[in-house]
Amino acid sequence: MTISQFIAKHSGLGKRHAKILLDSGLVFLNHQPITDGNLPLGKFDHLSANGEILQARTARYLLLHKPIGILSATTDKNHRTVIDLIDEPWATELHLAGRLDRATSGLVILTNDSRFSESLTSPENHVPKTYLVHTDQPIPDTVLKQFRDGMSFEKENTRSAPAEVELLTETSCRLTIYEGLHHQIKRMFLRFGIRVTQLHRESIGIYHLENLQPGEWRNIGLPVIQSGPRLKPDSIVQAIKADRDERDEKNALTFKTKPDTPK
Ligand code: URA
Repeated sequence: MTISQFIAKHSGLGKRHAKILLDSGLVFLNHQPITDGNLPLGKFDHLSANGEILQARTARYLLLHKPIGILSATTDKNHRTVIDLIDEPWATELHLAGRLDRATSGLVILTNDSRFSESLTSPENHVPKTYLVHTDQPIPDTVLKQFRDGMSFEKENTRSAPAEVELLTETSCRLTIYEGLHHQIKRMFLRFGIRVTQLHRESIGIYHLENLQPGEWRNIGLPVIQSGPRLKPDSIVQAIKADRDERDEKNALTFKTKPDTPK
């Protein structure tokens, strides 16, 4: 929607009225006067006309350490959700950029900016997600090889990109995948009769849990919105490694969530 259309709709007085306001220098976009009503109005632009604020929405980007048992949903009648952990009046504006199973812990990203969440979840963007996995039996080399080669997922009619996997003990590994298929990791192991006993997400793209404790969250500044040409997983891995090296730990402003009271 253009600025002019927005003002016309908001005032109910039509485009002519919007033009008069614009021509009189009474319209401010992000606190700067504007006269061109054909400019598009972004979801997070601040707009005022004749001293009245017509739109003022804050873009929000949060990292949350989801504890085991909390639902990756915005509302639920029976269980506490990730939104219940954010003790802020604007929490209900948020949505998830990718879910975790109820029994899985770790990083989830919450935002009210669908461009950002789509950039993280869109399959074409191959955003890496890294997990710590514990299993009920030793993980053989043949399984690691299959993960590294990529696997087909019939239900989704797709093939996973080559995963990165590092064996930590006989029954645990660090696994990076580039998709977000339903129960993907559990399904990958179950293919070989192996059950995942614990699953924990450490990172999504360039975002890491760092020192967040279960139930804690923090704001991230301006997000990196990935768009444009498809990146190959290798180049993403390089970008992440470079980012890891440079990461500034000082921005870890941590908030406590609400006390853990059952619903
Ligand atoms: N894979 C799973 O099986 N579960 C999750 O929660 C995330 C990835």
